Amino acid sequence: MARPWSSIVLPFGLIALVFACVAQASIVEHTFNVGNLSISQLCQPPRIITAVNGQLPGPAIHAREGDTVVVHLVNQSPYNMTIHWHGIFQRGTPWADGPTMVTQCPVKPGGNYTYRFNVMEQEGTLWWHAHISFLRATVYGALVLRPRGGAEAYPFPTKPDREETVILGEWWNDNVYYLEQMAFLTGFTARNADAYTINGKPGDLYNCSNGNQTYKFQVQSNETYLLRIINAALNTPLFFKVANHRFTVVGADAAYTTPYETDVVVIAPGQTVDALMVASAAVGRYYMAASPYDSAIPQGPPFSETTATAVVEYVGSEGEETPVLPSRPEYNDTATAFRFLSNLTALVLPGKPTVPLSVDTRMFVTVGLGVSDCQPRQLLCNRSTTVFSSSMNNNSFVLPAPGAVSMLQAHYSGATAGVYTRDFPDRPPVVFHYTADASDTASLPYTPKSTKVKTLRYNETVEMVLQNTRLIAKESHPMHLHGFNFFVLAQGFGNYDEATATPQFNLVNPQERNTVAVPTGGWAVIRFVANNPGMWFMHCHFEAHLDLGLGMVFEVQDGPTAETSVPPPPADLPQC
Ligand code: C2O
Repeated sequence: MARPWSSIVLPFGLIALVFACVAQASIVEHTFNVGNLSISQLCQPPRIITAVNGQLPGPAIHAREGDTVVVHLVNQSPYNMTIHWHGIFQRGTPWADGPTMVTQCPVKPGGNYTYRFNVMEQEGTLWWHAHISFLRATVYGALVLRPRGGAEAYPFPTKPDREETVILGEWWNDNVYYLEQMAFLTGFTARNADAYTINGKPGDLYNCSNGNQTYKFQVQSNETYLLRIINAALNTPLFFKVANHRFTVVGADAAYTTPYETDVVVIAPGQTVDALMVASAAVGRYYMAASPYDSAIPQGPPFSETTATAVVEYVGSEGEETPVLPSRPEYNDTATAFRFLSNLTALVLPGKPTVPLSVDTRMFVTVGLGVSDCQPRQLLCNRSTTVFSSSMNNNSFVLPAPGAVSMLQAHYSGATAGVYTRDFPDRPPVVFHYTADASDTASLPYTPKSTKVKTLRYNETVEMVLQNTRLIAKESHPMHLHGFNFFVLAQGFGNYDEATATPQFNLVNPQERNTVAVPTGGWAVIRFVANNPGMWFMHCHFEAHLDLGLGMVFEVQDGPTAETSVPPPPADLPQC
């Protein structure tokens, strides 16, 4: 008698289940009007910047795991535009990733394009930004991904009472588009930012910052706040503190971490950190502070040694008293940066992917600076000498020329000739003492320009050692991979040595990220599974270095089924 019952009950149960899922997953739809915004910062006359919907930072997108996000980009700015959804896997939607000339031609002024993608197996904080020129300096915003089960489903030691998004940025008293143009045409790097910002505002410590240029957070005593911290700065890793408060880090790059206690968060461009902060200090006012971490040795072009601040104000405080300022680490405090960045581990949850134990392809890739010849399009370049460049395995990456097709279009159609070549090497051309001070003369800082990809079979596992070099200067490069998260197995200083490094690999709970800050003059080992067909950019998230060529592209081949193959491009895909 049991059998007929179960066969009657089961279909109803299934229907109920399917109904519940359909009811929960929803479509999150936005229109992004990109256009001119007039804004005055640092007591400068009003300046025209490029912004989304007249906001700086741009609008936050809130979605739940399983939702579909649809964003209609309407380009009313005078510049070509694309938007990248930083950290979103884009499984099955490679045409929505956004880097100009990699997955799409730019949206021209007056044009539009709809980005459509699913939030799959990701919870936490990501962000979106322009992926063309330096325009992400003002075209950026938060992507907040909550669990389907709501705040109750957070796997945290304490549930937050409230959540706040804290986006760190950089500000130039200049038109960033022209800064980038001049840098490209002359072959000189663009100058560094004039200020750092918190939620778009520089804060009280800048000369000439008046009240409305400081962001304010109101807190209630003893409540727990989930701070979603994003480093949207172009070129600067940042130390982040709140006076008289501590943090429990619970996530990074939209992957949960083992709770980690600290009074300082270190965050490189491209990275995010989710941290709980209990409002347990005396009722009063406290500064939240973001100050630069400059890891270059020898030091590079001058940078602003200033601090962005926001005010954390307790309900019940006078609202007048001068906020308490936290001490800030020295700008070159690599020990503090390394302690934070190397101590994070993943929170291993049942059913979540963990690090693959077997490896199909091993790569050893140098990342760093060098010199190149002027390119033909660099019209103001001094051709009697070389100019700064940067590279991976001594290949300095250039995007296909505007007017061609994007790399993904070339890949999809099979017409790759003249767009890219499949010879990105697994090793550097010469083995040398990568991090020694004498390496400048001992090896090859000269790096030819090219558009090379590394082709991967669908689902193969890649292990990559990222080795920083001392050519020109050693520096902590934040290496970002589109389309995947990777596991960070180990990090260290000096030259990578397989014999001593392998035993230190964390194969139990390595942190999962989309951006790793390779230690200055050191190395990091990452692993990922190429389970996503398409063209995926990997590059330094310092905009200045990306422009100089610090990047490459993974071409991931189709799998055996339609679901595991690159789909046809959407009808509105912009043409070059
Ligand atoms: Cu957030 Cu290709 O970058």
